Amino acid sequence: MEMRKWKMDTALIHAGQEPCEKTGAVASAVVPAVAYAFTDVDAAAAVVAGEREGTYYGRYGNPTIASLEAKIASLEKGEAALGVSSGMAAISGALLAFLKQGDHVICTRDVYGGSYKFLTSLAPRYGIETDFVDCTDLAAVMRAIRPETRVLYLETPSNPCLTILDIGQLSRLAHAHGLTVIVDNTFMTPYLQQPLELGADVVVHSATKYLNGHGDVIAGFIVGKREAIQYMRRHIMGDLGQNLNAWDAFLILRGLKTLGLRIRQHCQSAGEIARYLEAHPAIERVYYPGLASHPQHELARRQMSGMGGIVSFEVRGGLEAAKTFMNGLRLAMISFSLGDPETLVQHPASMTHFAIPSGEREAFGITDGLIRFSTGLEDASDIIDDLEQALQPLLKQVASSG
Ligand SMILES: Cc1ncc(COP(=O)(O)O)c(C=O)c1O
Repeated sequence: MEMRKWKMDTALIHAGQEPCEKTGAVASAVVPAVAYAFTDVDAAAAVVAGEREGTYYGRYGNPTIASLEAKIASLEKGEAALGVSSGMAAISGALLAFLKQGDHVICTRDVYGGSYKFLTSLAPRYGIETDFVDCTDLAAVMRAIRPETRVLYLETPSNPCLTILDIGQLSRLAHAHGLTVIVDNTFMTPYLQQPLELGADVVVHSATKYLNGHGDVIAGFIVGKREAIQYMRRHIMGDLGQNLNAWDAFLILRGLKTLGLRIRQHCQSAGEIARYLEAHPAIERVYYPGLASHPQHELARRQMSGMGGIVSFEVRGGLEAAKTFMNGLRLAMISFSLGDPETLVQHPASMTHFAIPSGEREAFGITDGLIRFSTGLEDASDIIDDLEQALQPLLKQVASSG
């Protein structure tokens, strides 16, 4: 069957995976081998030189990871994919592959805290500079381009404010200036958004989130042109030792089979929760691309095939109100991650985005009252009941202040 013609739900199950030729086993085998035997010296040399496909040493890949990489490449409509040890390994690896000393990066403003930290702490030690720019403003992006700019780094929807960026328009602008466009597609997954089809050059993922979807694996992916991925495999992942392992690859292969079912449920419940919160008197503001009040709602509808499972919102009353609300939750858990079956809630200013200085954080919209809510797969009415009881104490404050 022709893989490229499959609809997404079929590709999630079958792309890159065949029953085992020897045993007929349908589920993928976990191949933990580090060493691979060759029939003669020339065969080994051809694989090392990249003249022949094959696995030769576990730090550069492995057969279980190879089927997962084939699946991810096919889902993202890319030529090739590289599985790595974390989302941050994917982000740092992809950036390092396109940058050298003296180069400059334009990065969208409210980006994942770890990406911000890499670009502002480690990258400058190797002579790489970054400007954080409001990428909803094309003129601002244009003004930020310097002769030494090499990469435009985007995250859309952004973490945590769910800002939507126009991947097609930004890619056209970037390409006109010779820049490589890298997009973090963690929040959407290829199920809802395919940045390469929209014009980006490279997609990065934290597979720790929705792709694996069960909160039990840390992993990342880079997807792009075959040559670039091959370079990253040999010279970035291989040299820095950021490889994925076979067992985690197997868990992601298993998790991916239900990605469609999970994402559809996450989107439906998140939409209900966003509407509930928007009408609640203790809530100052809701960020969810599916709401008509979202500043890039129309763009989101064009660019994404669903609005995702993350809802961010500001409670009235700042830090103290945020803490009271979060500490009062009984079903949702206070946690750093997202994209799991469990509803997970976190406070960006003191948790995931703590590395960003407070002045800059505020400018990025990450206020002390902001909360990021990763809608789980529990029954939506139970999640809303939990929100209702945890917001109750805030109503008294709202009444007394207003
Ligand atoms: C959007 C986004 N990108 C990247 C990462 C980093 O992923 P990992 O924890 O797998 O390194 C995260 C983690 O929260 C994230 O939310």
